[in-house]
Amino acid sequence: MKKVYIETYGCQMNVADTEVVFSILGKAGYERSASMDEADVILANTCSIRDNAEQRIWGRIDQFNLQRRRNPDVVIGILGCMAERLKDKLLESGKVDLVAGPDAYRGLPQLLAAAAPGHPQIDVLLSREETYGDISPVRIDKNGVSAFISIMRGCNNVCSYCVVPYTRGAERSRDCGTIIREACNCQSKGYREVTLLGQNVDSYHFGEFDFADLLSMVAEACPQMRIRFSTSNPQDISDKVLETMAAHPNICHHIHLPVQSGSDRILEKMRRRYTREGYLERVAAIRRIMPDCAISTDVIAGFCSETEEEHRETLSLFEQVGFDSAFMFYYSERPGTLAARKYPDDVDIETKTRRLEEIIALQNRLSLESNRRDIGKCFEVLVEGKSKKSEEELCGRNSQNKMCVWPDKIHKTGDFVKVKVEDCTQGTLLCSLCEQ
Ligand code: SAH
Ligand code: SF4
Ligand code: F3S
Repeated sequence: MKKVYIETYGCQMNVADTEVVFSILGKAGYERSASMDEADVILANTCSIRDNAEQRIWGRIDQFNLQRRRNPDVVIGILGCMAERLKDKLLESGKVDLVAGPDAYRGLPQLLAAAAPGHPQIDVLLSREETYGDISPVRIDKNGVSAFISIMRGCNNVCSYCVVPYTRGAERSRDCGTIIREACNCQSKGYREVTLLGQNVDSYHFGEFDFADLLSMVAEACPQMRIRFSTSNPQDISDKVLETMAAHPNICHHIHLPVQSGSDRILEKMRRRYTREGYLERVAAIRRIMPDCAISTDVIAGFCSETEEEHRETLSLFEQVGFDSAFMFYYSERPGTLAARKYPDDVDIETKTRRLEEIIALQNRLSLESNRRDIGKCFEVLVEGKSKKSEEELCGRNSQNKMCVWPDKIHKTGDFVKVKVEDCTQGTLLCSLCEQ
């Protein structure tokens, strides 16, 4: 049996895709290798979202080529978004033998059979139909507790800064029957949590079913599991989804709602189809329907032509919402996107970095304040394993997706446990076990 080693970069969708690739290659007689040293095939499932994500992967490709010196027959391949974006530029580097885009994974066994140093293979065709719906992923998570389920692929939203529509193609939803089957499969294998994944889950539609319908079907089919999902788009998240979340005790109360900017002029330039006011209205709806729901976000500092005043509007929106957590980036121009073609990347790097640092400093305070508000509350958490700091402590997340740690010698990974928050840091709730 040939051995294949895969490194995964980028978002959770790539993790789910790597699991599909292991399944396809497993059927074709490849065995999974935990290290690059014994592998006959080295693959990287890559991300193009920001320039530094790609730079990191170029660095890894050089490392893979050092391995080639030890094993001249090794096949080096690039999968995922960078494969799709750079296409034959990757082959021209002379450093890789295979390039396969996100919709080309069914053909990987054939591509691999033909690929050899000196005989590179490429397939970067995007599809309008491919969802890998019938494929049972081979799970790569370590603890067997939490699994990702991809419910759609691609994106139709062309936000002006974003490369995803170009690397992943048009949006398509997966057959809900196969999604429910996969969720039930996870439950019977002992998984206790699934996260439904899409770039814009609220535009899921299959036949007569929308995302809210899918959520309730999965929640009802898998009562022993928690259900999470990501990502929600502020322009599309409906009251029906919020009410569905509130109605099912096993759907977690956490919404990832990327805002990107607090300024209407910048939002419009980004081609986000909501305003600051529209965003705040959705936040108010979430809090009205689920007062205990956590909200996290993504933000981009220093987008083209952003003024100091507009940056301060982002800060004031953060303050107004009081996000529980956030992923924060500065703008990185992506070749070929609308913003790259139309707008100069004219906020200098010092200003971008300083604005980003200001947002991070503010969010650090907001995260701490959010955690402090939880002191004294009790939560049900799903045990993920031992805490990083101590053998005597377990860790796991509550419904709001906050990391909890507590001393515990009784429970094990995969248990649901009641804890009480005694204290906190900015990133963690420090808890004690409740009387069971
Ligand atoms: N589909 C999701 C986001 C996917 S990309 C949504 O619409 O919200 C994840 C995050 O990366 C985005 O929310 C954005 O904050 C960030 N991002 C995307 N393109 C970027 C770019 N060119 N520069 C910096 N950050 C970017
Ligand atoms: Fe990118 Fe916008 Fe699609 Fe999200 S919704 S993946 S930011 S184009
Ligand atoms: Fe990156 Fe592609 Fe995901 S660009 S963020 S791996 S969809």
